[in-house]
Formats: sequence, C-alpha cells, structure tokens
Amino acid sequence: MSAVGAAPGTAGGMLTEIDHVAIAVNDLEAAIAYYAETFGATVVHRERVESDGVEEALVAVADSYVQLLTPTRDDSPVARFLASRGEGLHHVGYRVADCAAALQSVKDHGGRVIDQAPRPGSRGTTVAFVHPKAAFGTLIELVQE
Ligand code: CO
Repeated sequence: MSAVGAAPGTAGGMLTEIDHVAIAVNDLEAAIAYYAETFGATVVHRERVESDGVEEALVAVADSYVQLLTPTRDDSPVARFLASRGEGLHHVGYRVADCAAALQSVKDHGGRVIDQAPRPGSRGTTVAFVHPKAAFGTLIELVQE
C-alpha cells in the first residue's frame, strides 16, 4: 500500500467500491457459461432493462460483480458499441454514497455527463453515466445502492 495519502477505506473519496465491471457480449448465455465453467463464478441477478435496451447478468466476485451485457434491440447503445468496437469492456461502475453529489462533482470539474440527473438503474439502484470522452476513454457509471 501507498505510504502517503488517506487511510484505507477513505482513499477512494466518493468512490467507495468497484460495484461492477461491465462487459458487452454478443451471446449472454455463452458468456455466463464461460464464467461458470471456467471459474465456477455464478449469476446472482438477471434483468432486462428495456429503457436501456439491454439484458444483464451479474456474476458475483466478492462484493462486486462482473456485469455481462447484451443488447435487446438493434438501436440500443450497447448494440452500437458491439457493432463498432466488438465485444469487450463497456464501462466501470463505481459505488457511491450519493449519486447526485458525485454527478455534481463531475460537472463542477468540467466533466461531460451523459445523464444530467441520477436515474433508476438495475437492482433498484440509482445511477448516472459520465461521458468517456472526458474520463480518459472509459465510460463511468456512478452507482448508489
Ligand atoms: Co452498469
């Protein structure tokens, strides 16, 4: 661990945990089978989010998840991602205590946001997405449980 900086548990500031790492896949069942057969990692939650045009499967990894994502329609953002970039890392979800406050901090620091205000996510969470162009090329999701 670092010899300088904040104490463990507070060093992430507003970011309290990695909530999930999201991977866009063409075949959700094949991806679920891969994690189960290769690593013995099991799905703890599945959900279709019609407003986002995705179906997700959450594979538990300690207190975090791998979120396997596949599109449910051809015009969804994840479908466009797969068409242009292929399968792979789609976004990182950071757990925060206060999604609105974290989103405001992004705006205050000149960041570009996708969601102007927090909105409902899967699992009953409250979420907001930060634009990858202003976040070093990685789409960020702020997740409040
Ligand atoms: Co996510």
